[in-house]
Formats: sequence, C-alpha cells, structure tokens
Amino acid sequence: MKIAVLNEAGAETRVAATPETVKKFIALGAEVAVESGAGEKAGISDGDYKDAGATVVSRAAALNGAGVILCVTGPDPATLKGAEAGALLVGALDPARRADDIAAYARAGLEPLAMEKMPRITRAQSMDILSSQSNLAGYKAVVDAASLYGRAFPMMMTAAGTISAARVFVMGVGVAGLQAIATARRLGAQVSATDVRSATKEQILSLGAKPIFVEGVAGIEGEGQGGYASETSPEYQKAQAELVSGHIAKQDIVITTALIPGRPAPRLISDAQLKSMRTGSIVVDLAAEAGGNVEGTVPGQAIVRHGVHIVGAVQLARTLAADSSALFARNLYNFLSAFWDKEAGKVVLPDDDEIVRALRVAAVAEPAA
Ligand code: NAI
Repeated sequence: MKIAVLNEAGAETRVAATPETVKKFIALGAEVAVESGAGEKAGISDGDYKDAGATVVSRAAALNGAGVILCVTGPDPATLKGAEAGALLVGALDPARRADDIAAYARAGLEPLAMEKMPRITRAQSMDILSSQSNLAGYKAVVDAASLYGRAFPMMMTAAGTISAARVFVMGVGVAGLQAIATARRLGAQVSATDVRSATKEQILSLGAKPIFVEGVAGIEGEGQGGYASETSPEYQKAQAELVSGHIAKQDIVITTALIPGRPAPRLISDAQLKSMRTGSIVVDLAAEAGGNVEGTVPGQAIVRHGVHIVGAVQLARTLAADSSALFARNLYNFLSAFWDKEAGKVVLPDDDEIVRALRVAAVAEPAA
C-alpha cells in the first residue's frame, strides 16, 4: 500500500509524517511518498525523509496510486487527483466547518477520516490528536504569557530585595489546562485553577495548585458525555461568576481553556472582571476560536483592554511545529497501524469498529466507471 504525505498549504506549519513514522510505515510493508518541502516548517528536510526510506516527489506523483493520504489540515479537494479509488484521507479535516469539502472528497472517491472525531476511549488514547495538540497549546500559552508579562514568574530573594511569585489562574482543566498548570508551576508561579468537572479537583491538587470551585450549588450539570463538560445551570453560572470576580482581581495571569463540544465556548470573564485586574496583567484565551471565554477576545490577536493584555490564542500547536508534528504523526501511525492487515498488506477498516465509525464523516461515493 502506498502512503502519500502532503505538503500543507497556507499558515499550517506541521506535517503529518516524520522520518520516525515513515520508517515505521515502511517496516509494516508500506511504500511512502512525501511531497517535496512537506517537513520544511517543522525542521525536517526532504533529505531526512529520503534517509528514512521515503521517496520525495511532486504532489501529483505522491498521490499517484496512493491508498492512504496523510494531511494535517484538510487540503483543497481540487488538488487531490490521482489517488486510488476509495483511498483514505486522514487528518484534522474539520468536518463541522468544512462540510462542502468533505462532500467533495467523497465525490472524488476518497474516504475522509476526521481524526478530531476520535472517541475518548482507552484504546484510542494514543491516536488522539486533540489531546496531543492541546497539551502543547497549554504549555505554549503559559510561555507566551510569561514573555508578555513585565515581571518574573518565580519568587526571588535577592540582595536588592524580594520579588514575589506571579499568581496564575487556569480556568478549564482539561488536557491544555493541566499542562498549563504544570508549566506555570515549573516556572515558579503560585497557581490556582477551576473547572466544572469535580474530577479535576484532585488533578489540580496533585500538580501542586489550589482548586477554586463552586460548592453546594444546586443544578450543576458540568459532567457531560465522554469526559467532556456540558453546560451549567443559571444558578451555577451566577455562583461561578461571583467566585471568579473575587479571585481574578488578585491574579497576574489567567489562562482560559474552557470548551463545551458542539457549543460556543462558555463566557467566563466579563469586561467588568477584566477591569478589576491589575494593569500589566495577562489573559490568554485558548478558546478564542470557539467564541472565547473572555469578553472582547479577538481570535489571532493580542489586544490591551483596561491595561490588561488579552491574547486570542489560535492554533498554538503550530508555533511548536517540530514537537506538534512528531506527536500528530505518531497519532496517525498509531491509528493506521492498529488496522493494518498483514496478509492484505494494507489498512483494512472494519465497519463495526467504534473508532472507524466515529472517524467516518462521509459515505464513499461510487468511483466513476
Ligand atoms: P475540552 O477542551 O473540551 O475543555 C477544556 C476544559 O474546560 C474541560 O476540562 C471542561 O470541563 C472545562 N470547562 C467547560 N466548561 C467550563 C466552565 N463553564 N467553567 C470551567 N471549566 C469549564 O476538554 P479536553 O481537554 O478535551 O478534556 C476533557 C476530558 O477528556 C478530560 O477529562 C480528559 O482527561 C479526557 N480525555 C480522555 C481521553 C481518552 O480517554 N482517550 C483523551 C483526551 C482527553
């Protein structure tokens, strides 16, 4: 089976295969063709791919006869000619926002598999692109905040006097939030965190941070399906806003990561709460693309409001292209190798498998006669 690896278009910096995963695919019995320049922004040269055993060619040559096409973000359907009928197109295809392109892939005889639909089950943990990329985004949010902040993170006792530790508050303790807490702690900050899922309380404590939780309020609906949050009741939202108002005024840095699948991001910080923060404070909103947790967030921009920097963080994993590519590529390899049929020498996807059913976002059109 031939696997094609695309050179990503536009602002994408990541690549869907690395020399490490190329070698592993070849060890399974696959042939790998990489589009020239694919790894350049992630620090991988064409020569590195050749050394790993891939051929490095044009997109048309890479696609010619391919049974699997690997990408990070969904490519323009018009650029995908020449693959085998029924070839798998595997990547972060964003089916919620790119329904027309998904339909076009299927019309062209490809089978789109949207990796962000990976179910949150133990067997699929190593295939989960949302986790691997969120983890890096959580780290980078703290590093970006530290570089904007006009003060140091750790407490320092010097001959010239003492500098107090930065106070960091993390709102939303999923994958990104946990890494943000861990990173801020490593930098020496005093960290507190909140979430609607009570299971996170212990995780916050185990990272050496202080949990800030709404207690004893009726109508908490914060535990949704598949480990995700659901929307909270109006009573809970009111109690949460009061709790946050008291706490946020004392914080130097706030990292927000709260998301609810299929819904706009919950609003966690109002303009009045921003106003209560000290001049020079930093807010990094990792939910910017989903509407933002912070009033006034502009996706992709850093703005200053009431003297507070508000960073509308978008696609932070792209700013760590080498590491995010390495993890993304392993997620794709772990998925495809789990369905590798040794005898057939190719990937075979059983229709009744939970993972396969979740990733299939379009029916494969009958190939043209
Ligand atoms: P996410 O990106 O959907 O949301 C981030 C966080 O925001 C979540 O912890 C959520 O509870 C929180 N949140 C939502 N509304 C909020 C509000 N109003 N106030 C405060 N916080 C709010 O979540 P993510 O990072 O995708 O992880 C969700 C869960 O799934 C975690 O428990 C994680 O460990 C689990 N997970 C399981 C995997 C598996 O078993 N394969 C893989 C990845 C994650």
